[in-house]
Amino acid sequence: MSAPLLELKNVTKRYSASGSADGVSVLAGITLELARGETLAIVGPSGSGKSTLLQIIGTLDRATGGEVLLDGKNLAALDDQQLAEVRNRQIGFVFQSHYLLPQCTVIENVLVPTLARAKSEIRNPKSEIPAARAERLLQRVGLSERLHHRPGQLSGGERQRVAVVRALINQPQLLLADEPTGALDHASATALGQLLVELNREEGVTLIVVTHAMDLAKRMGRVLELGDGKLR
Ligand SMILES: Nc1ncnc2c1ncn2[C@@H]1O[C@H](COP(=O)(O)OP(=O)(O)OP(=O)(O)O)[C@@H](O)[C@H]1O
Ligand SMILES: [Mg+2]
Repeated sequence: MSAPLLELKNVTKRYSASGSADGVSVLAGITLELARGETLAIVGPSGSGKSTLLQIIGTLDRATGGEVLLDGKNLAALDDQQLAEVRNRQIGFVFQSHYLLPQCTVIENVLVPTLARAKSEIRNPKSEIPAARAERLLQRVGLSERLHHRPGQLSGGERQRVAVVRALINQPQLLLADEPTGALDHASATALGQLLVELNREEGVTLIVVTHAMDLAKRMGRVLELGDGKLR
């Protein structure tokens, strides 16, 4: 059996008000193993720490205690530069709001995360050429007629599909989605949930979705609930 892609060992998170020793405990010992290719939904009440947990997994924030191992690497041992590299190359993010650049076209937005990659790496014959991958994935999500549109010319569901393609452009191992359907109407939300599951299979990307929508959660292979700082 291969090692898990993601391993959390007794992860804790406290937010302290301006350096005071006490503060608010948000995560009180999270232990989790996620295999490569797995899909997981994290549900739980508002304020239970779902986004906090996703940000720690996604290297946007650091745990106060415990260990986070991504692909065998202990994130606590990496400096900020190394974390930024992990974030850019191994992790894709989708949020409730798409955060597309309004002045850039769809294809330009999708290619933004590739700009930080070294030319040598992009020219590696084993990796798909970014522009070709962008076009293929945009076609895959039904946006081949929208490549040169700007975000303002798209529907909410279309914008969110662009955000998903942008998250996948660097072939991440792990896709993290924080309420990805939260701002969509029911039909668009259902379609996006379906698309995420299909892309998990087709692209082999491991998927964690935080959501309040039980119909989306139930599409994932596992559903865990965060409450009282614990994941069950
Ligand atoms: N930077 C911060 N400083 C202090 N407290 C914070 C900070 N970020 C989050 N919190 C607190 O941590 C708790 C968990 O917040 P978090 O955003 O992770 O919840 P959530 O489960 O994602 O909620 P929602 O479903 O509403 O998005 C909240 O009580 C919040 O106020
Ligand atoms: Mg949240």
